Amino acid sequence: MNGENPLNQPHTSRIYDYFLGGKDNYEIDRKAAQEILQAWPHIRQAARVNRQFMHRSTRFLAEAGIRQFLDIGTGIPTEPNLHQIAQRTVPDARVVYVDNDPLVLAHARALMTMDNGAGATTYIHGDVTDPAAILRAPELTGLLDLNEPVGLSMIALLHFVESADINKIVSTFLDALAPGSYLVICTITADFAPEQVAAAQDVYRVRKLPAQVRTHEEVTSWFAGLELVEPGIVPPHRWGLEQTTEFAPSFDAKVSCYCGVGRKPA
Ligand SMILES: C[S@@+](CC[C@H](N)C(=O)[O-])C[C@H]1O[C@@H](n2cnc3c(N)ncnc32)[C@H](O)[C@@H]1O
Repeated sequence: MNGENPLNQPHTSRIYDYFLGGKDNYEIDRKAAQEILQAWPHIRQAARVNRQFMHRSTRFLAEAGIRQFLDIGTGIPTEPNLHQIAQRTVPDARVVYVDNDPLVLAHARALMTMDNGAGATTYIHGDVTDPAAILRAPELTGLLDLNEPVGLSMIALLHFVESADINKIVSTFLDALAPGSYLVICTITADFAPEQVAAAQDVYRVRKLPAQVRTHEEVTSWFAGLELVEPGIVPPHRWGLEQTTEFAPSFDAKVSCYCGVGRKPA
């Protein structure tokens, strides 16, 4: 949700930037963030775990041979950005970034076109609730070949989409993508710590910011028809770690997110 004057209305992108230790946030965002921290004291850690999941899942896709990426709800640039991770493995990887926050747009023009080496990035100011507009945007059709697999990521995005039919959004994108494409999602759940998450949700909603939690069953339903990559729908710190790391159940509550990676079959 974007207010006319950036100083009058907190933005989800800037609150997240604050949680990650960034500098692209204003007093109004920090005030909201402090209240969210009171409700959910470990949300900074949750943001970092989410961001590390983005790193691991992008690397996984690149190692699986994905050369083109569509990252929706990309956020204020935070190094390393998705294209930097992908291009470490696939130097000529092409990345289309999408966000609906004008502030991200302002940063994207400057940052996402830097240091691309053999690859390429572009940015669409667009809304995930209008997949058709994103899919026909000239920036996308000019950079991605939709006859070849694409890695579609919606990481820390869908809890900001309250009323739209997520199954329909996801299937519209996947129908347009070639077999072998991947879907990557991470989103907030109240399954582990209902009171903590509900209190944080209230802070967002009081400020007219969307905040929707999802169950394991709901997140699983978004991957219908896909081959779910092991270990399935799990909290993000439990996905893609090379060594077996033990996490206490209390850590699941601190992070309070589910993630998943699925492949569109041939
Ligand atoms: C928490 S940030 C996530 C950044 C990045 N994906 C990550 O996980 O590190 C969420 C981003 O989603 C964007 N967003 C929220 N609603 C959106 C929508 N309907 N369409 C596109 N982007 C949206 C926000 O502007 C924000 O930049």
